[in-house]
Amino acid sequence: MDLRNRTLRASGFHSPERGTIDVLEDVLIDIDGNGRIAAVHRTGDPGYDVICREHDASGRLVTLPAGSYLLPGFVDLHVHAPQYPQLGNALDVPLEVWLQTYTFPLEARYRDLAFARRAYGLLVDDLLSNGTTTALYFATVHQEATRLLVDLCLEKGQRALVGKVAMDNVDECPDYYRDASPDAALDGTRALIDYIRSHPENAESRVLPVVTPRFIPSCTDATLEGLGAIAGECDCHVQTHCSESDWAHGYVLARYGLTDTEMLDRFGLLRRRTVLAHGNFLTADDLEMIRVRQSAIAHCPLSNAYFANAVFPLRAALEKGLHVGLGTDISGGPSASMLENCRGAILVSRMLQTGVDPRLEADARSTFGPAQINFRDAFHIATAGGGIALDLPVGQFTPGYKFDAIVIDTDADGGTVRLWDDLDHAENILQKIVYTASSANIAAVWIDGEQRSGSGI
Ligand code: GUN
Ligand code: FE
Repeated sequence: MDLRNRTLRASGFHSPERGTIDVLEDVLIDIDGNGRIAAVHRTGDPGYDVICREHDASGRLVTLPAGSYLLPGFVDLHVHAPQYPQLGNALDVPLEVWLQTYTFPLEARYRDLAFARRAYGLLVDDLLSNGTTTALYFATVHQEATRLLVDLCLEKGQRALVGKVAMDNVDECPDYYRDASPDAALDGTRALIDYIRSHPENAESRVLPVVTPRFIPSCTDATLEGLGAIAGECDCHVQTHCSESDWAHGYVLARYGLTDTEMLDRFGLLRRRTVLAHGNFLTADDLEMIRVRQSAIAHCPLSNAYFANAVFPLRAALEKGLHVGLGTDISGGPSASMLENCRGAILVSRMLQTGVDPRLEADARSTFGPAQINFRDAFHIATAGGGIALDLPVGQFTPGYKFDAIVIDTDADGGTVRLWDDLDHAENILQKIVYTASSANIAAVWIDGEQRSGSGI
């Protein structure tokens, strides 16, 4: 159901601040004609009963059924759209082998627009049905296929940030898949920015352009410098991979004698609205520089387990006040579900804290120190944290924010959440949703107040 110009009466959860869940009980959310949240009224607020009665009488009130809970839509902070066809394949080789053997050949196929249309259409539909209302996408080097991804996001209504991948270093990129020159990488980037900003269907800027150097190893200095200049001139989002694996981190140290973060800063790429994927091997100085620049990190727990051989110290980053969101890293991670990635983030944080070698005594099994996060932190980074990282008004039910939301139906056919009336209350219900819900439980998905997936309410 279209919720623009309506009031939704619902119970649910959001987490505007890290570490706490705001439990919404029977709130009234006024949604304006543009799909923005105009007001949130809680039971007991002056006027609540009158608003309820009047909106009910005028037919404006929409009420969520019992057993259904409203959550902010998920913000997936790191997705390789072209890699969706290989989701769940080829996770048994190191990153640099995976790129050359599987990933670059697959991405090269997006010169074929029919293939691109099929793969991108399926991806956007599947992410929407998994409750992802905002996605930060790497596309490919190709201009046309990347424009098609933009068109599909606009057509299907997903909030998206899309980057043409820049990669022109002949030493690291194959002949069959790279930008022909720095000028080709830079011109292609500028052309996509213009395409997105002047798109006739994009007057509300639901799709935004992103300056996207794949990672430092795949780019020449001229391209990195040029992209930094474009990011400044066009005031664009930036995304790249940063200190992801031993190999990638070591490559940059060997090429420059400095870390990824230091080099990205020198190239003008470390800005507010820069999203650095992974960041497993960031030094303390790197973290501080990222904090000062107000850049963000996309934590990709499932992908890191396969390709990084390390766990990102999420808790330390959150305690330091860094902007952090959650990413599936399709297809470095084998799941398109942000809920599964929430669970992954919790799980790996536990392992980082406790260590995993059973031959060692418990107190000698890890030297890392406190690292454990809980469902509140995971839910926060999957929603509000992602919105803050992107500097977009999404991920929370706050007046002025966009009504991007999902409904979890805990009674859904084929669903995987089991609530017990006498056991489950308030935050506990969210805990069970984070740990056990699946796409069958996602009954409705709205972006800017318009329903984009689900059978609805
Ligand atoms: N580093 C450079 N390219 C990629 C990619 O496609 N996926 C991941 N996980 N890391 C990368
Ligand atoms: Fe990635």
